[in-house]
Amino acid sequence: MIPITVVEFGADTERLVLEVLRTGRIAQGPMVARFEAAFAELVGVKHAVAVNNGTTSLVAALQVLDLEPGSEVITSPFTFAATLNAILEAGAIARFADISAEDFNVDAASVRERVSARTRVLMPVHLYGQTADMDPLTEIASEHGLALIEDAAQAHGATYRGRGAGSFGIGSFSFYATKNITTGEGGVITTDDDALAEKLRILRNQGMRARYEYVMLGHNYRMTDLQAALALPQMQRYDEVVDARAANAASLSAGLRGVPGLVVPAQLPDRRHVWHQYTVRVTDDAQVSRDEFVARLNEAGVGAGVYYPRLVFDYDAYRTHPGVVIEDTPVAAAVAQQVVSLPVHPHLSSQDLETIVTAVHDILGAPDGGSR
Ligand SMILES: Cc1ncc(COP(=O)(O)O)c(C=O)c1O
Repeated sequence: MIPITVVEFGADTERLVLEVLRTGRIAQGPMVARFEAAFAELVGVKHAVAVNNGTTSLVAALQVLDLEPGSEVITSPFTFAATLNAILEAGAIARFADISAEDFNVDAASVRERVSARTRVLMPVHLYGQTADMDPLTEIASEHGLALIEDAAQAHGATYRGRGAGSFGIGSFSFYATKNITTGEGGVITTDDDALAEKLRILRNQGMRARYEYVMLGHNYRMTDLQAALALPQMQRYDEVVDARAANAASLSAGLRGVPGLVVPAQLPDRRHVWHQYTVRVTDDAQVSRDEFVARLNEAGVGAGVYYPRLVFDYDAYRTHPGVVIEDTPVAAAVAQQVVSLPVHPHLSSQDLETIVTAVHDILGAPDGGSR
């Protein structure tokens, strides 16, 4: 089976982890500080505050805004549950704008329609490694005085018109095991705002500004030096990793363009896509349903994933939750029935890429109606 993700660490990572172990200082320390500096540079911001996972980073980003009860956050309905869980944990109300089928991210026109007198935060999600259309979203945020929190869990190093994902407002990233850069579990919050960064550092450490000087309610959101040691070598190699992912994506798109009933993902001209996922859409014109397509890919030895099969609020736990406002998002609803992610990770061989392309053609039929 060609897996959808592969996690591999080299000798440099082993050395760095051993270095941490031998210091005997395994909680948050100098390695976390080094990682924060490297990550801030990648995003192009002054501050990166490392935390224990991506969900925490979203919660912390919301908590430092001191939202009043009833504050609304507008986000995407086509996202991982963490986005919604974080909004609800922060005590806010979640509202949903529709998405664009082109980049799978919130559509600014729909966001604009949903801004109300209670809206306080826009939370676009940069899904699959490509940013949302940030210019109009930034414009809406500044017109209405809204905070912008970017859920960039899947978009490390992505850019929009040359600016890093996570640099438009408060950025939130995840380093979960399958992410482009991983620490097993981990997260980071990015910001250019000195006061906000300071507040985030205090919040992550029990609300403590200096030893036993508690200045706010806090939490333990800290990352460990062992986790940071896993990330540092990946940061050094990251451009190569993105280049390999982009080359794999280009090769898949060259092989798959024109297959009936299949839409290959768009790399939009003003953005650097970091190809966390390579996600096609299986439309009504396809010879088989999306779910059968996935089953047959698996039979052919191709790992494929559906991220995500349902809209984020479309579960009993959320449908009746007072903090969830269910709204009509027809594009997102249609897209959730169509998406399939194919392997795009940097460990794919040219033979693997050929196997994936051939399997798709065999299932959906070549453009001439024949099979390869
Ligand atoms: C879009 C999105 N938001 C938030 C998260 C939460 O990150 P974590 O799993 O590190 O808590 C993830 C990843 O898992 C994600 O994909």
